[in-house]
Amino acid sequence: MSLPILEAKDLLWKVKGKTIVRVNRFQICPGEHVALIGPNGSGKSTLIKFLAFLQKPSAGEIVFQGIGPNSSIIYKRRQMAVVFQEPLLLNMNVYDNIAYGLKLRKANINIRERVDYWLDKLSISHLKSRYPKNLSGGEAQRTSIARALALEPKILFLDEPFTALDAPTKAQLLEEMNLLIRQSSITSIFITHDFSEIPFMADKVYVMSEGEIVQQGPLEDIFYRPVNEVVASLVGADNQYEVTISERYSSNRYGIRLNRSHTNLVVHTAVPKNFISGQRLKAFIRSDDIGLGAELENKLDGYVKKISPHGFQYKVLLDCGFELSVVISKQQFIELNLKNNDRLTVSINSKNIHLIETS
Ligand SMILES: Nc1ncnc2c1ncn2[C@@H]1O[C@H](COP(=O)(O)OP(=O)(O)O)[C@@H](O)[C@H]1O
Ligand SMILES: [Mg+2]
Repeated sequence: MSLPILEAKDLLWKVKGKTIVRVNRFQICPGEHVALIGPNGSGKSTLIKFLAFLQKPSAGEIVFQGIGPNSSIIYKRRQMAVVFQEPLLLNMNVYDNIAYGLKLRKANINIRERVDYWLDKLSISHLKSRYPKNLSGGEAQRTSIARALALEPKILFLDEPFTALDAPTKAQLLEEMNLLIRQSSITSIFITHDFSEIPFMADKVYVMSEGEIVQQGPLEDIFYRPVNEVVASLVGADNQYEVTISERYSSNRYGIRLNRSHTNLVVHTAVPKNFISGQRLKAFIRSDDIGLGAELENKLDGYVKKISPHGFQYKVLLDCGFELSVVISKQQFIELNLKNNDRLTVSINSKNIHLIETS
C-alpha cells in the first residue's frame, strides 16, 4: 500500500471545555475516494477544515505527503481545494469565479485554457458570462466544482455539495462527478449526511458521531455491517428490532425471535460470532434488501400501511405483525398496482439480517 497523502494524528478540538472533535487517526492514500458521513453537528465540517489546513485544532497534527508541521501552510493549502455549500462570488460571472482562484495562486499556466477546459467538463460553457444570481442551484454548484477542479488540486474536499439540490439535478450531477473523480488521479474527501450519495463518490467510508470516528471501512462494511445504531440509521438500515437468539443451527446460522411480535427469522451472519441462546441483540434489515414474493427463507405476509416515493423508487410500509419497511422499484410498483391495505408477500435472505450486540 502506498504512503498516505494525508494523515491526521490525535486531533482534538475543544471549545469552552467541550470536546467537539476527537479523531485519533485519519489516513487517506493517493487516489483514494473517501466519504465522511455523520449526523448534523457531528463535526464533519470542522474535521475537514483541519485536514485542509484552514483551521488549527487545539492539539494534534496533520501530515501532508510526509511533510511535518513546520512546513509552509500556504504550500500545503495550495495542494488542496474545497467545495463548500457557500455561494459563489456574486460580483463576478461564472468564468471569473472559476479563474479567480487561479489568479490568486498566480499559477504559471494558461488560465483561459484551463478555465475553458473545466467549463466544458462541467457542461457550463454556455453560462460563462452569467452572474451567480441568474444561475439555478445545480448550475451554481457546477460552477463551484469547476472552480475547485480548475485548481487541479492533489486533494479535493467536498462539503455536502449536493444537499440543497432537487432530486433530479442531484442525481445527474452525482453521475457526472462519479465519472469525473474516477477518471482522474485526484484524491477526494466527500462529506454528506445522505448515505445514498456515497456509492457515487467513494469506496471507503468514515462515519462520524459526536466528534469521533465510530466506524471506518469499505462501503460494503458500513452499509451491511454497521457497528451500532447510529451508523445503522445513517446508512439506511431502517428496519431495526430488538431480538433474542432462540436457536443455534450451526456456527453461523441462528434462529432469532423479534421480541415484540414473536416472529421467528433465520439469520446467517457474515462474520461468525459466538452468540449464545437467550442473548438479546439488535437486528438490522435494510429496506432495499428485501425481496418480493416467497423465497424459501423468512417468508412474511403483510398488509400495506403506507406507500411513499423514495427517490426514483417507492418505500412501502408493511404490517407483518411488526412494521417492515420495503423499498421496491417503480416497475414493481406499477406491476403490482399497490394500494393501502393490499396484501404483500416478501422474503428476507438470511444473509441480509445483521445482528449487533446492544450496549
Ligand atoms: N467556531 C465554533 N465555536 C463553537 N462551536 C462550534 C464552532 N464551529 C462548530 N461548532 C460546533 O461544533 C459542532 C460540529 O459542527 P460541524 O463541524 O459544523 O458539524 P457538521 O459539519 O457535522 O454538521 C456543532 O455542535 C457546532 O455547533
Ligand atoms: Mg457541515
